[in-house]
Formats: sequence, C-alpha cells, structure tokens
Amino acid sequence: MDKPGFPSFPPDFVWGVSTASYQIEGAVKEGGRGPSSWDAFVAEPGRIANGDTGEVACDHYHRYPEDIGLMKELGVDAYRFSFSWSRIQPDGSGAVNADGLAFYDRLVDGLLDAGITPSPTLFHWDTPLELEQAGGWLNRDTARRFADYAEIVGGHFADRIPRWITINEPVVLTMLGYGAGIHAPGLSLGFDALPAAHHLLLGHGLGVQALRAVGASTIGIANNHAATWPASEHEEDLQAASLYDNIANWIFADPILTGSYPEELAPFLPPVPDSDLAIISTPIDWYGINSYNPALVGAPTAGEAALVDGHELDASLPFSLREIEGYPRTDFDWPVVPEALTELLVGFKERYGEKLPPIYITENGAAINVGPDADGRVRDQRRIDYTDSHLHALKAAMDAGVDVRGYFHWSLLDNFEWAAGYSQRFGLVHIDYATAKRTPKDSYFWYQELIKANKGPLQQ
Ligand code: BGC
Repeated sequence: MDKPGFPSFPPDFVWGVSTASYQIEGAVKEGGRGPSSWDAFVAEPGRIANGDTGEVACDHYHRYPEDIGLMKELGVDAYRFSFSWSRIQPDGSGAVNADGLAFYDRLVDGLLDAGITPSPTLFHWDTPLELEQAGGWLNRDTARRFADYAEIVGGHFADRIPRWITINEPVVLTMLGYGAGIHAPGLSLGFDALPAAHHLLLGHGLGVQALRAVGASTIGIANNHAATWPASEHEEDLQAASLYDNIANWIFADPILTGSYPEELAPFLPPVPDSDLAIISTPIDWYGINSYNPALVGAPTAGEAALVDGHELDASLPFSLREIEGYPRTDFDWPVVPEALTELLVGFKERYGEKLPPIYITENGAAINVGPDADGRVRDQRRIDYTDSHLHALKAAMDAGVDVRGYFHWSLLDNFEWAAGYSQRFGLVHIDYATAKRTPKDSYFWYQELIKANKGPLQQ
C-alpha cells in the first residue's frame, strides 16, 4: 500500500461485498430451478470466452456455508447477493418452487446467524427463459411478471431482510443484452433496444410498490453509472458525449428520481404515458450506484467500430467509446481513474439536489487475474491499490457533501464474468475452478483490516 493508513468513514458506514446468482451459484439444474436467458445464451457457440458456462461456477449453491464463514471472518456488515428468479418461479410466472425458496431460506438464515445483513437484488439479468422467449424485457408484460415475483419474494422474506434492491443495472442489460448482442439474450437492436430500458424501469417501479405492499422496506436499485468525458471540445464530440451520457446514465436515473426522461432522448423513445412515469418514480429509500471507470466518448470515427470489453459495437451508432490513456489499467483493460468516482457522485448531487436519496455504492472493484504463488498466497496488490484509491475518492465525495451510507465491493468471489467467462477475476477470494477451493487473497486481508480500522478504536 502506498497510502499512509486507511481512508476513514463514519462508524455506521455499511461495509459489504456483492455477488450475483448466475455468476456464483452453479447447480443450474438442481432444486427445481428453471432455465434462464443465460443458460440458453452460454449454450450458443462463440458467445462466451473459452465456451465457459455458469453450470458449476463457484458451486455456491452447495458451498454457501463456507462462503458465509468467509464473510463472517472478513467482518462485513452486509452481503449483496441476487435471487435467481427461475429458482423461485421456474417459468417466470405462476407456480412457486418451494425448493428454490428453501435454498434462499438457508442462505438468509445463515447470514443472519453470522450477524451479516442480507441485502439482496431481486433480479441480476437472469431472466426466466420462458419470459425471454416471449420477448423478455422488450415485452411490457415482463414488468408485471417481475412485480408478481417481487411480491412472492418480498412476502416470504420481508421479516428477515431489512434492505432490498429491485434490479441490477438496467443499462447493461439494455445496451449489451438487447442493443449490442454481447450479453443474453444476444440481440443487436441498437437504439431499438430502448423499450427494454423502459420496461426494466417500469418493472423496478412496480417492484418497489409490490415490495412495500408486503411489508418490505429500505428499497433501492443498483444502477451502473460512469462519469462521461467528451473526447474533445469540438461540437461533434460534445454532442456525441452528451447523447451517450443520457443513454448510459440519465435515462436510468432521471425517471426514477425526477419522474421524467431526459428531453434529448425524446426522438429515440416511444411515447411514454405519465402513468408509467408515476410508477417508475415511486419513492425509493436509497439509490445504489455501481461504478468502475469513466467513459471517454466522441463522435463516431469513420470505419472504426467502438469496442466494449473487446466486442465491436455497431459502427452506425452516433457516438464512439475511446481509449482513456495515461492511467493504469486493470487486467480487463479498464482504466483506473478514482477521481472519476468523486466527479460522478458530486455530479449526482448537483443534478438531483434534494431529490437524491442516500447513496450506497453497490459495486466497485477490479479484475486482477493473479492466482496463488508457490507458497499458496495470492498477491493481488493492484486490487488493493484500486480499492484504496476508490475509497479515498468516495470519501472525497462525502467530504464534499454527498450522502453515501455504504460500500459493497465487487466481488466476494472470483466468478463467471458474463461474456468473459472465467477469464476475469474480480474476487477478494480466489476460486480454483477445478476444485472449487477458496483462497482468500491479500486484498481480502486488506479489506478485513480496513473494516476493523473503521470500526475499532483506531478510527481517526
Ligand atoms: C455487473 C456484475 C459484473 C461487474 C464486472 C457489473 O456490471 O453488475 O455482474 O460482474 O459489473 O463486470
């Protein structure tokens, strides 16, 4: 560590770790689970690096007691996991699978016994296959089905789960799943994917209402956001960056926090009834931000398609994502720009003022692909550096008046990194995928010390 001491946070600041069902659970055919959009997508040749699938993943479905033990030892206050919708409703609607609920009963009770607050997400991209085949999130009906599912899960767990997240990152599912064909369901609709964004937001609003109706409280969403930088001061670059900013950030935050879509997007959106916007802006108790790095955006470059994680985007898009030079990079080739997190959070406060509820960072982390050395230790100093610098940046935003209540590191475990398969390692705990052996990395012990320092008498 090159910084003198840990960043210091308020004593009631929530320290957590995040995961998601399809990325860690495995056991895709056990316990009555129905197939999801991701089971179908990974089976299509060429979709996932090395032909990897989530069939076994971290085998968390069987090894969850060990993972709870690792979290207890780590000292986290809270654990953000996600429910697999098709474990609970195998067809995405109708009959409830009691075995599916029973798995999460065991997990939730185990967490509570360990003194860890379950802080789950209802939906982290693994749409039940039957719903996907009926149009998925392009179909408005999926939002209604999601509300039914929220009612089932909320009704079952409201007395034991004190913090809820409706949906994870509608932007990524819309852009990479329906827009660019990089994630399930693998459609490349470009701007025609935007109805999926609206239906995800509608699902979020209906989900908030359904959760509240069954007594759940402290409800938020986990949205992905990136500070957006124009590639230059030229008018074309400014315009392209502004459009991207609206599509990647504000289309997802504005309707929730202000009840309207950004005006600049009107030409791209179908007419939206006010009644939908009223549902989407149903008050939430907190706002979750997942953030990894900023985006540098310019006008489209002739003949050159923009790349996202090595995948080419449609060359006809009215913007292009550019390389951010001059910063260290993670092994996923993402730039490490901690000050962009401060800028993002301060920008949120400036944009929404009093309308901005307290913020939690629901994801932040880095792919650092190192394994155990000969002595068995995993020396992932660059993850420590990434996290340390981002926590300092987060603290700077708090010092500037942004109300941030907690930080959930992505991720507890190395896991199935979507289109990149197992090639990218985001965990504080290393997974040997041949044996499912868990090895806490140097970053795990660093995070443990950081939490201790922030809870204990040493706190400055
Ligand atoms: C997602 C996670 C993912 C992480 C790293 C977020 O977009 O919510 O599922 O693993 O970023 O790519």
